[in-house]
Amino acid sequence: MPEAPGFPQRTATCGALRAPEAGRDVVLLGWVDSVRDHGGLLFLDLRDRYGVTQAVFNPEKAPEAFAAAKSVRPEYVVAARGRVVRRDPANVNPGLPTGEIEVQCSVLEILNLSEPLPFPPGDEAGVAEEVRLRHRYLDLRRPRLQRILETRHRVLLAVRRYFDAQGFLEIETPILTRSTPEGSREYLVPSRVNPGRFYSLPQSPQIYKQLLMVAGYDRYFQIAKCFRDEDLRADRQPEFTQIDVEMSFPDPEALYALMEGLMEEIFRAAGLSIQGPYPRLSYQEAMDRFGSDKPDVRFGLEIRDVTHSLAASPFRVFSDTVARGGAVKAILVPGGGAWSRQRLDNLVEAAKGLGSKGLIWIKSAGGTIQSPVLKHLTEEGCRAVLRDLGAASDGLALLVADTWKSACTILGALRLSIGRSEKLIDEKRHALLWVHEFPLFELSDEEGRLVSCHHPFTSPRPEDVPLLDGEPARARALAYDLVLDGMEVGGGSIRIHRSDLQAKVFEVLGIGREEAETKFGFLLTALRMGAPPHGGIALGVDRIIALLTGCSSIRDVIAFPKTTSGIDLMSGAPSRVTEAQLTDLSIRVDLPPDLRPSSK
Ligand code: AMO
Ligand code: AMP
Repeated sequence: MPEAPGFPQRTATCGALRAPEAGRDVVLLGWVDSVRDHGGLLFLDLRDRYGVTQAVFNPEKAPEAFAAAKSVRPEYVVAARGRVVRRDPANVNPGLPTGEIEVQCSVLEILNLSEPLPFPPGDEAGVAEEVRLRHRYLDLRRPRLQRILETRHRVLLAVRRYFDAQGFLEIETPILTRSTPEGSREYLVPSRVNPGRFYSLPQSPQIYKQLLMVAGYDRYFQIAKCFRDEDLRADRQPEFTQIDVEMSFPDPEALYALMEGLMEEIFRAAGLSIQGPYPRLSYQEAMDRFGSDKPDVRFGLEIRDVTHSLAASPFRVFSDTVARGGAVKAILVPGGGAWSRQRLDNLVEAAKGLGSKGLIWIKSAGGTIQSPVLKHLTEEGCRAVLRDLGAASDGLALLVADTWKSACTILGALRLSIGRSEKLIDEKRHALLWVHEFPLFELSDEEGRLVSCHHPFTSPRPEDVPLLDGEPARARALAYDLVLDGMEVGGGSIRIHRSDLQAKVFEVLGIGREEAETKFGFLLTALRMGAPPHGGIALGVDRIIALLTGCSSIRDVIAFPKTTSGIDLMSGAPSRVTEAQLTDLSIRVDLPPDLRPSSK
């Protein structure tokens, strides 16, 4: 026989009891949420993750329980035994699901004490996130976070059910893997038994899922932890979760439909609804209209192209840019004619902060034209621009002349910030869309060479394969991103399944034959041994849950997140380790003495 736990077993949760249960004898286990002394009677609100129930202690009916109740403090853990009774109509609390009843207690057992907490559990405002993260187990007692983690659970459950019903197998791929391409973003793990060698933590299960296709597991999914040592932001954590998917013999249409069906289930599990098919924008169109490859289409302020009408402008900023092959892009802000000079100056500074050479504004206030470039452009020229954009008498035009991509990106960022500050975005609405027809490569300014837009295993569009030889920068990819409310929540592609094409792409990327053999030899070999055509996608779980639960940071939907500097404030990870540990791993840390590992 296992030992008795030494406390009574729960017969109801703190969220369960309703009026029809009046008369029932129950045992509640939970935390003391609050203590109220009401002229003789003592009220404890007992809390667990299911809700709150009011427990009443009467000194005459149960003096011992009353004395115990008098000694408790908030966050003590208690067992309360008593009878469910209906509250007097005057005392019913309509704000509480259990508000029609209370439990008249005959016994109160204190199971554990609590020190005063660094912050009250229910309190949302005024407590720094740093303090909350340091005591994340207390933060997680908040009903809001409990609801979010429950939603996360329901979503992942729905995902598993959905894929199972569609004939997919969940297969786990390794966490200790081999260091591969964009190596700089990997976390490395030293191997003790192979001194001087390192595993790397997977940035995604990409290569393994492709190998599973070669192995014949034609429908794979996995709820996979991924690790990326990148600069962190509100939408990025060093470890995060993907819904990772791969199919053999993929039909892109079937893949879109599969993922749209999945999103429908995910929304339903979160208590929302959405219906496919979603709009599809080519990368070119997304950039042209929204200045972003992850556009938020829940508001207008679309970007317009005025390159042609300004090609012969007397203002050199425009005509020279066009002559150099650049573009002039504009957005029209209705009502912006009333904006103050200060506000416009701030906007110009914001544009410069985004890397723009400048920002030209033209506004019409009560029929009068104002613009810092009035003298260059003439009043009629300014009016023509506003007319071109369809401005009313109080319109504001913002123009940027630059390379096509920069002009789009800069105005795209301004569009978003104006959309937010002017509250043009309906935050309650959700908008999903696909962006496709991405370029295969982009020029990395940092490295001065072509890098993959998605990853090096992405297939070019078949008709663009010949471009790999002369004009690889023009080749487009069979890749697609899923965008929710202006955030990239998924990305995938049809893969290269032939080793000769894969070798060619490595060559374009400047990965030599030998390097390719060393790093990806196993993949290239596998591609030569009956690799079927295949393709897939991965969705970012944390981002999706954050958007569906209205959180501005993915930290709020991860039980134990890290700060933007990658630190777990609660445990102190990453920490220094002892010299002995390092010696065991044949590692020496080359740092000034104060940063060296502790010797204990
Ligand atoms: P990708 O790199 O686009 O594709 O990642 C897929 C999705 O994962 C999410 N994501 C992140 N979420 C939180 N924190 C991060 N640091 C982070 N990085 C990415 C995003 C993104 O859309 N193997 C390919 C997928 C494929 O081709 O099938 C991949 O990993 O929502
Ligand atoms: P300048 O006469 O060169 O000082 O430029 C006049 C105005 O044009 C200033 O308000 C600049 O902010 C703006 N400007 C300069 N270059 C660009 C550009 N490429 N795109 C948009 N505005 C620009």
